[in-house]
Amino acid sequence: MSTSNNSNAPHVRQDDFATELIDRANLQLERVLAAAKGEERLREAMHYSVFNGGKRLRPLLVYASGQCLGLAPDQLDAPACAVELIHCYSLVHDDLPAMDDDELRRGRPTTHLAFDEALAILAGDALQALAFECLVHDSTPDRNPQPRLDMIHALAQACGADGMAGGQAIDLAMEGTRPDQAQVERMFELKTGALIRAAVMMPTARCPDLPQTERQALRDFAESVGLAFQIRDDLLDIEGQTGVIGKTAGADEAHDKASWPGLFGIEAAQARIDELSTIAANALKKLSGDTAGLLWLGRKLVNRSY
Ligand code: IPE
Ligand code: IPE
Ligand code: MG
Ligand code: MG
Ligand code: MG
Repeated sequence: MSTSNNSNAPHVRQDDFATELIDRANLQLERVLAAAKGEERLREAMHYSVFNGGKRLRPLLVYASGQCLGLAPDQLDAPACAVELIHCYSLVHDDLPAMDDDELRRGRPTTHLAFDEALAILAGDALQALAFECLVHDSTPDRNPQPRLDMIHALAQACGADGMAGGQAIDLAMEGTRPDQAQVERMFELKTGALIRAAVMMPTARCPDLPQTERQALRDFAESVGLAFQIRDDLLDIEGQTGVIGKTAGADEAHDKASWPGLFGIEAAQARIDELSTIAANALKKLSGDTAGLLWLGRKLVNRSY
Protein backbone atom coordinates (compact mmCIF):
# COMPACT_ATOMS: atom_id res chain seq x y z
CA MET A 1 0.00 0.00 0.00
CA SER A 2 1.05 3.56 -0.58
CA THR A 3 2.55 5.28 2.45
CA SER A 4 0.86 8.57 1.61
CA ASN A 5 -2.09 9.46 3.79
CA ASN A 6 -3.79 12.77 4.35
CA SER A 7 -4.77 12.16 7.97
CA ASN A 8 -3.13 14.08 10.77
CA ALA A 9 -2.13 10.83 12.42
CA PRO A 10 0.66 11.24 14.94
CA HIS A 11 3.68 9.11 14.21
CA VAL A 12 3.06 5.71 15.75
CA ARG A 13 5.63 2.98 16.22
CA GLN A 14 3.57 0.26 14.66
CA ASP A 15 5.51 -2.65 16.07
CA ASP A 16 4.48 -1.38 19.49
CA PHE A 17 0.93 -0.93 18.25
CA ALA A 18 0.78 -4.57 17.19
CA THR A 19 2.62 -6.13 20.11
CA GLU A 20 0.63 -4.34 22.79
CA LEU A 21 -2.69 -4.98 21.12
CA ILE A 22 -1.96 -8.63 20.39
CA ASP A 23 -1.13 -9.05 24.09
CA ARG A 24 -4.34 -7.23 24.94
CA ALA A 25 -6.42 -9.45 22.63
CA ASN A 26 -4.77 -12.59 24.03
CA LEU A 27 -5.52 -11.50 27.58
CA GLN A 28 -9.18 -10.96 26.71
CA LEU A 29 -9.35 -14.34 24.98
CA GLU A 30 -7.73 -16.05 27.98
CA ARG A 31 -10.26 -14.43 30.32
CA VAL A 32 -13.25 -15.36 28.19
CA LEU A 33 -12.10 -18.96 27.75
CA ALA A 34 -11.19 -19.34 31.43
CA ALA A 35 -14.68 -18.14 32.40
CA ALA A 36 -16.39 -20.55 29.98
CA LYS A 37 -18.04 -23.43 31.75
CA GLY A 38 -18.64 -26.90 30.36
CA GLU A 39 -17.24 -30.34 29.65
CA GLU A 40 -13.50 -30.39 30.30
CA ARG A 41 -12.27 -32.09 27.13
CA LEU A 42 -14.44 -29.79 25.01
CA ARG A 43 -13.00 -26.74 26.77
CA GLU A 44 -9.49 -28.13 26.15
CA ALA A 45 -10.26 -28.44 22.43
CA MET A 46 -11.58 -24.85 22.40
CA HIS A 47 -8.45 -23.58 24.14
CA TYR A 48 -6.21 -25.54 21.76
CA SER A 49 -8.02 -24.03 18.78
CA VAL A 50 -7.58 -20.46 19.98
CA PHE A 51 -4.09 -20.50 21.58
CA ASN A 52 -1.98 -21.87 18.80
CA GLY A 53 -0.09 -18.93 17.34
CA GLY A 54 -2.73 -17.07 15.34
CA LYS A 55 -1.66 -13.68 14.04
CA ARG A 56 -4.72 -11.98 15.63
CA LEU A 57 -5.17 -9.82 12.54
CA ARG A 58 -8.91 -9.41 13.04
CA PRO A 59 -8.67 -8.12 16.64
CA LEU A 60 -5.92 -5.76 15.42
CA LEU A 61 -8.31 -4.49 12.74
CA VAL A 62 -10.95 -3.83 15.40
CA TYR A 63 -8.47 -1.84 17.51
CA ALA A 64 -7.08 0.03 14.49
CA SER A 65 -10.55 0.94 13.26
CA GLY A 66 -11.44 2.09 16.77
CA GLN A 67 -8.22 4.14 16.90
CA CYS A 68 -9.34 5.87 13.71
CA LEU A 69 -12.76 6.56 15.25
CA GLY A 70 -11.28 7.92 18.48
CA LEU A 71 -12.50 5.04 20.65
CA ALA A 72 -10.61 3.72 23.68
CA PRO A 73 -9.29 0.13 23.55
CA ASP A 74 -11.59 -0.96 26.38
CA GLN A 75 -14.57 -0.08 24.18
CA LEU A 76 -13.18 -2.49 21.60
CA ASP A 77 -12.16 -5.53 23.63
CA ALA A 78 -15.47 -7.37 23.23
CA PRO A 79 -15.72 -7.07 19.42
CA ALA A 80 -11.98 -7.82 19.10
CA CYS A 81 -12.38 -11.00 21.11
CA ALA A 82 -15.65 -12.00 19.45
CA VAL A 83 -14.36 -11.75 15.90
CA GLU A 84 -11.26 -13.82 16.74
CA LEU A 85 -13.41 -16.53 18.35
CA ILE A 86 -15.51 -16.74 15.18
CA HIS A 87 -12.34 -16.84 13.06
CA CYS A 88 -10.82 -19.65 15.18
CA TYR A 89 -14.06 -21.63 14.92
CA SER A 90 -14.08 -21.13 11.14
CA LEU A 91 -10.53 -22.54 10.92
CA VAL A 92 -11.38 -25.63 12.99
CA HIS A 93 -14.32 -26.44 10.72
CA ASP A 94 -12.40 -25.44 7.56
CA ASP A 95 -9.79 -28.09 8.37
CA LEU A 96 -12.26 -30.95 8.96
CA PRO A 97 -12.13 -34.00 6.68
CA ALA A 98 -15.51 -33.03 5.21
CA MET A 99 -14.11 -29.64 4.24
CA ASP A 100 -10.43 -29.00 3.40
CA ASP A 101 -9.19 -32.12 5.19
CA ASP A 102 -6.01 -30.47 6.49
CA GLU A 103 -3.55 -31.87 9.00
CA LEU A 104 -1.66 -28.73 9.94
CA ARG A 105 -2.86 -25.40 11.30
CA ARG A 106 -0.60 -22.69 12.66
CA GLY A 107 2.21 -25.26 12.59
CA ARG A 108 0.42 -27.78 14.80
CA PRO A 109 -1.94 -30.72 14.23
CA THR A 110 -5.44 -29.54 13.36
CA THR A 111 -8.01 -29.77 16.15
CA HIS A 112 -9.70 -32.88 14.77
CA LEU A 113 -6.34 -34.69 14.81
CA ALA A 114 -5.22 -33.39 18.20
CA PHE A 115 -8.61 -34.39 19.67
CA ASP A 116 -11.16 -36.10 17.42
CA GLU A 117 -13.56 -35.08 14.71
CA ALA A 118 -16.64 -34.83 16.91
CA LEU A 119 -14.82 -32.69 19.48
CA ALA A 120 -13.52 -30.44 16.70
CA ILE A 121 -17.05 -29.90 15.38
CA LEU A 122 -18.31 -29.20 18.90
CA ALA A 123 -15.38 -26.93 19.77
CA GLY A 124 -16.20 -24.87 16.67
CA ASP A 125 -19.87 -24.72 17.65
CA ALA A 126 -19.03 -23.67 21.20
CA LEU A 127 -16.51 -21.02 20.08
CA GLN A 128 -19.17 -19.51 17.86
CA ALA A 129 -21.64 -19.32 20.74
CA LEU A 130 -18.94 -17.89 23.03
CA ALA A 131 -18.29 -15.07 20.54
CA PHE A 132 -21.85 -13.85 20.89
CA GLU A 133 -21.75 -14.22 24.68
CA CYS A 134 -18.71 -12.03 24.60
CA LEU A 135 -20.62 -9.25 22.83
CA VAL A 136 -23.64 -9.64 25.09
CA HIS A 137 -21.47 -9.31 28.23
CA ASP A 138 -19.38 -6.45 26.83
CA SER A 139 -18.47 -4.44 29.94
CA THR A 140 -18.58 -1.04 28.17
CA PRO A 141 -21.18 0.96 30.12
CA ASP A 142 -23.40 1.91 27.17
CA ARG A 143 -26.54 3.72 28.30
CA ASN A 144 -28.16 2.64 25.06
CA PRO A 145 -28.19 -1.07 24.07
CA GLN A 146 -28.22 -0.19 20.34
CA PRO A 147 -24.44 -0.27 19.70
CA ARG A 148 -24.21 -3.73 21.25
CA LEU A 149 -27.18 -4.96 19.18
CA ASP A 150 -25.61 -3.49 16.03
CA MET A 151 -22.34 -5.32 16.70
CA ILE A 152 -24.15 -8.60 17.36
CA HIS A 153 -26.08 -8.12 14.12
CA ALA A 154 -22.94 -7.28 12.11
CA LEU A 155 -21.08 -10.33 13.40
CA ALA A 156 -24.06 -12.67 12.90
CA GLN A 157 -24.43 -11.50 9.29
CA ALA A 158 -20.69 -11.86 8.68
CA CYS A 159 -20.54 -15.47 9.83
CA GLY A 160 -23.89 -16.75 8.52
CA ALA A 161 -25.29 -18.12 5.28
CA ASP A 162 -24.71 -14.81 3.48
CA GLY A 163 -21.26 -14.46 5.01
CA MET A 164 -18.47 -16.83 6.00
CA ALA A 165 -20.53 -20.05 6.16
CA GLY A 166 -22.16 -19.30 2.81
CA GLY A 167 -18.78 -18.54 1.26
CA GLN A 168 -17.39 -21.81 2.59
CA ALA A 169 -20.31 -23.68 0.99
CA ILE A 170 -19.56 -22.01 -2.36
CA ASP A 171 -15.83 -22.76 -1.95
CA LEU A 172 -16.62 -26.47 -1.56
CA ALA A 173 -19.09 -26.47 -4.46
CA MET A 174 -16.44 -24.81 -6.68
CA GLU A 175 -13.86 -27.58 -6.17
CA GLY A 176 -12.95 -29.05 -9.55
CA THR A 177 -14.77 -26.32 -11.49
CA ARG A 178 -13.45 -23.33 -13.47
CA PRO A 179 -15.35 -20.27 -12.23
CA ASP A 180 -14.66 -16.82 -13.71
CA GLN A 181 -12.88 -14.08 -11.76
CA ALA A 182 -16.09 -12.41 -10.55
CA GLN A 183 -17.40 -15.72 -9.21
CA VAL A 184 -14.17 -16.52 -7.37
CA GLU A 185 -13.99 -13.04 -5.88
CA ARG A 186 -17.62 -13.20 -4.74
CA MET A 187 -16.78 -16.47 -2.95
CA PHE A 188 -13.71 -14.80 -1.33
CA GLU A 189 -15.78 -11.79 -0.25
CA LEU A 190 -18.08 -14.13 1.63
CA LYS A 191 -15.75 -16.78 3.07
CA THR A 192 -12.98 -14.37 4.15
CA GLY A 193 -13.97 -10.79 3.41
CA ALA A 194 -17.17 -10.74 5.46
CA LEU A 195 -15.39 -11.32 8.78
CA ILE A 196 -12.64 -8.83 7.94
CA ARG A 197 -15.31 -6.26 7.08
CA ALA A 198 -17.11 -6.97 10.36
CA ALA A 199 -13.84 -6.42 12.27
CA VAL A 200 -13.42 -2.98 10.70
CA MET A 201 -17.10 -1.98 10.85
CA MET A 202 -18.16 -3.20 14.32
CA PRO A 203 -16.50 -0.22 16.09
CA THR A 204 -18.65 2.18 14.00
CA ALA A 205 -21.61 0.98 16.10
CA ARG A 206 -20.20 3.18 18.86
CA CYS A 207 -20.03 6.20 16.51
CA PRO A 208 -23.62 6.86 15.38
CA ASP A 209 -22.67 10.34 14.10
CA LEU A 210 -19.94 9.08 11.77
CA PRO A 211 -20.51 10.72 8.36
CA GLN A 212 -21.74 8.35 5.67
CA THR A 213 -18.69 9.08 3.48
CA GLU A 214 -16.36 7.94 6.26
CA ARG A 215 -18.44 4.86 6.95
CA GLN A 216 -18.24 3.99 3.25
CA ALA A 217 -14.48 4.65 3.20
CA LEU A 218 -13.96 2.17 6.04
CA ARG A 219 -16.10 -0.37 4.21
CA ASP A 220 -14.14 0.14 0.96
CA PHE A 221 -10.86 -0.28 2.85
CA ALA A 222 -12.06 -3.48 4.54
CA GLU A 223 -13.48 -5.03 1.37
CA SER A 224 -10.35 -4.35 -0.71
CA VAL A 225 -8.03 -5.62 1.98
CA GLY A 226 -10.24 -8.66 2.66
CA LEU A 227 -10.21 -9.72 -0.96
CA ALA A 228 -6.47 -9.10 -1.34
CA PHE A 229 -5.88 -11.09 1.86
CA GLN A 230 -7.48 -14.24 0.42
CA ILE A 231 -5.66 -13.86 -2.92
CA ARG A 232 -2.43 -13.60 -0.90
CA ASP A 233 -3.48 -16.72 1.01
CA ASP A 234 -3.90 -18.60 -2.27
CA LEU A 235 -0.48 -17.34 -3.44
CA LEU A 236 1.14 -18.51 -0.21
CA ASP A 237 -0.39 -21.94 -0.72
CA ILE A 238 1.53 -22.12 -4.03
CA GLU A 239 4.74 -20.22 -3.21
CA GLY A 240 5.06 -20.68 0.55
CA GLN A 241 6.74 -23.45 2.47
CA THR A 242 4.89 -25.62 4.95
CA GLY A 243 7.37 -24.80 7.73
CA VAL A 244 6.80 -21.07 7.24
CA ILE A 245 3.07 -20.84 6.53
CA GLY A 246 2.19 -23.39 9.23
CA LYS A 247 -0.21 -25.12 6.81
CA THR A 248 0.44 -27.84 4.23
CA ALA A 249 1.74 -26.03 1.13
CA GLY A 250 0.08 -27.07 -2.13
CA ALA A 251 -3.15 -28.14 -0.41
CA ASP A 252 -5.31 -26.02 -2.73
CA GLU A 253 -4.03 -27.76 -5.87
CA ALA A 254 -4.29 -31.17 -4.20
CA HIS A 255 -7.97 -30.47 -3.45
CA ASP A 256 -8.67 -28.89 -6.84
CA LYS A 257 -9.70 -25.65 -5.12
CA ALA A 258 -10.85 -22.57 -7.02
CA SER A 259 -7.62 -20.72 -6.20
CA TRP A 260 -7.20 -17.19 -7.68
CA PRO A 261 -3.58 -17.69 -8.87
CA GLY A 262 -4.33 -21.31 -9.78
CA LEU A 263 -7.05 -20.17 -12.18
CA PHE A 264 -5.71 -16.85 -13.48
CA GLY A 265 -1.94 -16.98 -12.90
CA ILE A 266 0.57 -15.90 -10.28
CA GLU A 267 1.52 -12.59 -11.93
CA ALA A 268 -2.11 -11.61 -12.45
CA ALA A 269 -2.77 -12.45 -8.79
CA GLN A 270 0.00 -10.13 -7.62
CA ALA A 271 -1.26 -7.39 -9.95
CA ARG A 272 -4.77 -7.77 -8.52
CA ILE A 273 -3.39 -7.56 -4.96
CA ASP A 274 -1.52 -4.36 -5.90
CA GLU A 275 -4.66 -2.89 -7.46
CA LEU A 276 -6.74 -3.69 -4.35
CA SER A 277 -4.00 -2.27 -2.09
CA THR A 278 -4.18 1.05 -3.93
CA ILE A 279 -7.97 1.14 -3.55
CA ALA A 280 -7.56 0.42 0.18
CA ALA A 281 -4.93 3.15 0.65
CA ASN A 282 -7.09 5.67 -1.25
CA ALA A 283 -10.09 4.82 0.91
CA LEU A 284 -8.08 5.66 4.03
CA LYS A 285 -7.37 9.15 2.65
CA LYS A 286 -11.08 9.92 3.01
CA LEU A 287 -11.00 9.41 6.76
CA SER A 288 -10.48 12.32 9.16
CA GLY A 289 -9.21 10.22 12.10
CA ASP A 290 -5.90 8.55 12.87
CA THR A 291 -5.42 5.97 10.12
CA ALA A 292 -1.85 4.95 11.05
CA GLY A 293 -2.91 1.59 12.47
CA LEU A 294 -5.19 0.74 9.55
CA LEU A 295 -2.53 1.74 7.03
CA TRP A 296 0.07 -0.43 8.71
CA LEU A 297 -2.31 -3.37 9.03
CA GLY A 298 -3.54 -3.08 5.47
CA ARG A 299 0.03 -3.43 4.25
CA LYS A 300 0.68 -6.32 6.60
CA LEU A 301 -2.43 -8.22 5.52
CA VAL A 302 -1.67 -8.09 1.81
CA ASN A 303 2.10 -8.60 2.04
CA ARG A 304 2.16 -11.29 4.70
CA SER A 305 4.58 -14.19 4.38
CA TYR A 306 2.55 -16.61 6.56
C1 IPE B 1 -6.28 -17.83 7.58
O1 IPE B 1 -6.40 -16.61 8.26
C2 IPE B 1 -7.56 -18.22 6.97
C3 IPE B 1 -8.04 -17.36 5.91
C4 IPE B 1 -9.14 -16.70 6.00
C5 IPE B 1 -7.29 -17.25 4.68
P1 IPE B 1 -5.16 -16.01 9.05
O2 IPE B 1 -3.96 -15.99 8.15
O3 IPE B 1 -5.56 -14.71 9.65
O4 IPE B 1 -4.93 -17.11 10.16
P2 IPE B 1 -4.27 -17.06 11.60
O5 IPE B 1 -5.37 -16.67 12.53
O6 IPE B 1 -3.16 -16.07 11.64
O7 IPE B 1 -3.81 -18.46 11.83
C1 IPE C 1 -10.52 -20.32 4.60
O1 IPE C 1 -9.92 -20.24 3.35
C2 IPE C 1 -11.47 -19.32 4.87
C3 IPE C 1 -12.21 -19.60 6.12
C4 IPE C 1 -13.40 -19.15 6.25
C5 IPE C 1 -11.64 -20.35 7.24
P1 IPE C 1 -8.76 -21.33 3.20
O2 IPE C 1 -9.31 -22.70 3.26
O3 IPE C 1 -7.92 -20.96 2.04
O4 IPE C 1 -7.91 -21.03 4.52
P2 IPE C 1 -6.63 -21.88 4.96
O5 IPE C 1 -5.65 -21.77 3.83
O6 IPE C 1 -7.07 -23.27 5.22
O7 IPE C 1 -6.16 -21.13 6.17
MG1 MG D 1 -11.13 -23.63 2.95
MG1 MG E 1 -8.47 -24.38 4.31
MG1 MG F 1 -5.80 -21.13 1.99
